[in-house]
Amino acid sequence: MAAAASLQSTVAFTTTSSSSARLAAASLPRSDLDAPRSVSFSSTLQSRPLLCKVLEGSRLAHCQPKAGVRADMEVDISLSPRVNSVKPSKTVAITDHATALIQAGIPVIKLTVGEPDFDTPAVVAEAGINAIREGHTRYTPNAGTAEIRAAICKKFKDENGITYTPDQILVSNGAKQAILQAVLAVCSPGDEVLIPSPYWVSYPEMARLADANPVIVPTKISENFLLDAKVLEDSLTEKSRLLILCSPSNPTGSIYPRKVLEEIAEVVARHPRLLVLSDEIYEHIIYAPAVHTSFASLPDMWDRTLTVNGFSKAFAMTGWRLGYIAGPKHFISACNKIQSQFTSGASSIAQKAGVAALGLGYAGGEALSIMVKAFRERRDYLVKSFGELEGVKMCEPQGAFYLFLDFSCYYGADVEGFGKIDSSESLCRYLLDKAQVALVPGDAFGDDNCVRISYSASLSTLQAAAERIKKALAPLKAAVPV
Ligand SMILES: Cc1ncc(COP(=O)(O)O)c(C=O)c1O
Repeated sequence: MAAAASLQSTVAFTTTSSSSARLAAASLPRSDLDAPRSVSFSSTLQSRPLLCKVLEGSRLAHCQPKAGVRADMEVDISLSPRVNSVKPSKTVAITDHATALIQAGIPVIKLTVGEPDFDTPAVVAEAGINAIREGHTRYTPNAGTAEIRAAICKKFKDENGITYTPDQILVSNGAKQAILQAVLAVCSPGDEVLIPSPYWVSYPEMARLADANPVIVPTKISENFLLDAKVLEDSLTEKSRLLILCSPSNPTGSIYPRKVLEEIAEVVARHPRLLVLSDEIYEHIIYAPAVHTSFASLPDMWDRTLTVNGFSKAFAMTGWRLGYIAGPKHFISACNKIQSQFTSGASSIAQKAGVAALGLGYAGGEALSIMVKAFRERRDYLVKSFGELEGVKMCEPQGAFYLFLDFSCYYGADVEGFGKIDSSESLCRYLLDKAQVALVPGDAFGDDNCVRISYSASLSTLQAAAERIKKALAPLKAAVPV
């Protein structure tokens, strides 16, 4: 029931004014998860479309029965409780929504996406093209080619100070798959997965897919959204199995300083059942003087850490679908086993490109430092621009390409023709409607006070967006004294 309700609110992310009519013309993707359970065909005719009558519920669907299939039979369209327990990704829903508006001719600035706006570095793309030309188009070993796993081991040693052997590495179709497989591999039904909030949208859903329970551990904006070791300690039970850390963080851009990680490691060390999944996919998008520390490099933490990384963010390779996980052989073999029955090895072509990406030099070399410089310039602009707004709270991102702004000072405003703004979702709807800027509501990340701006857009686009947002927020400010 709760899942159905939240699904409803996700797909019902619509605009309220003139844009609605144009949006209606654009076909929005809709999920069928709230579909009724059973369909009955009303005729035995087989040559023309028939109306399917929905038995439990009011939705009607047109169906084309196959030759030889009795058209009056009932089809059970119920879904597994696993599907119903999982919420669809709000970031995907809102990005799709904004795209539909753009396609309908509305000049929406879309700051929702979690991918760099840069091209894959040319030498990396060339390596992929050459892989096809040279015939690297067959299945690879399930865990990844020996070549890429050796390159990953070298990367861990040189950049993170961690020693792994190739049999402690599993290459997957993106870091997302690597994380899900790890959760499935180590969690038993009823286990608890500790997730500091704000969190990347997929972590709690992955825990649910594994029949584990996500336990959301709050952090404070005044403490840079970093997990406090004491709060972690208080949240642990005998069912606690996995702590997920993400540094640099999506959505906050926070980076765990080594000292904070050491405090967390002390707590972890006292709980033998507890493992740590350290998601380091934004590792290279980092603004000096901040430095990245791999959790597995801390004393005594190697044995119980699963380190996840990938190519999507650092090397602008989201579409290549390539990520990896490293850890003790026992756990990696288990992930490998799941992957072998699930997707098999990652794309042979992407793996060749991945080897070229890792060959770009320390932390991606020149190709990456150009991207990081641009991201930094954009971060500086947004922090300054939104820092001018009275009542808005933020912590300056030290990495990734997101700004997580606490806009709750605007909640309570009642806007004529729109209604009440009392949540991150209603504020984002308002901003989409009034400013035509698409942002992601913070409640998708577990913090309803905030909204997430993705600054993977040009500086001029961000300047236009900030102007529009501020203009739309100005009348709200007058309505709600801070
Ligand atoms: C924190 C975090 N981890 C993992 C991923 C998954 O990346 P991919 O599957 O593209 O490698 C993402 C993508 O948005 C992310 O933000």
